[in-house]
Amino acid sequence: MDMMEFLRTRRTYRRFAQRPVEPEILRESVDAARIASCGANRQTLKYVVVQSPEAVAAVQPLVHWAAYLPQEQGTPKADETPTAFIAVLQDETLPGGSDVDTGLALGSLTAAAWAHGVGSCIMGAIDRPALGKLLALPDKMRLCYMVALGYPAHESHLVTMENGSVKYYLDPARDYCVPKRGMDEVLIKTV
Ligand SMILES: Cc1cc2nc3c(=O)[nH]c(=O)nc-3n(C[C@H](O)[C@H](O)[C@H](O)COP(=O)(O)O)c2cc1C
Repeated sequence: MDMMEFLRTRRTYRRFAQRPVEPEILRESVDAARIASCGANRQTLKYVVVQSPEAVAAVQPLVHWAAYLPQEQGTPKADETPTAFIAVLQDETLPGGSDVDTGLALGSLTAAAWAHGVGSCIMGAIDRPALGKLLALPDKMRLCYMVALGYPAHESHLVTMENGSVKYYLDPARDYCVPKRGMDEVLIKTV
């Protein structure tokens, strides 16, 4: 797959086949995040891999899916749930964390997973206090995001944006359609 095709298909996935992601792939995804570029090379992020079926099941009710869709469309059903999660934590004992660093780490993590066909959903709408307790996170480890992972059970297509709407929707096959602004809108000029 060439790089642009990789980037076009490395989308958000929200329904998954019920087969586990190999632990080595989860570990490699964290490794990819670990070596991401970051301001002043400060490396303030830490990770928790959630892969046991019991722990994964306990996380499910603490994450919230697809705000643009009715719950029955956007929330995975019991046989569609992600089979792993990775928690991304800010280690507040280390100086200099930034949202840009977190974004770059998330980009590398999800790309490394997608290179193995593992789809993901970066999740910010999460119950941080409950997840902190469930994962027994130490003090000074601030939970930033959960990343849901699994082998996708649907496709996701980039579509032309209409009437300026950024809202994704499902097509009749229940595949995601994700509007993106066109190049003519985002590339202001070349000088
Ligand atoms: C910082 C961030 C937080 C997100 N939080 C959630 C979330 O809580 N729940 C969810 O279902 N999707 C979440 N998403 C996925 C976005 O909705 C998705 O990236 C967006 O709709 C565009 O789709 P695409 O990733 O396929 O381009 C999040 C994505 C990012 C980057």
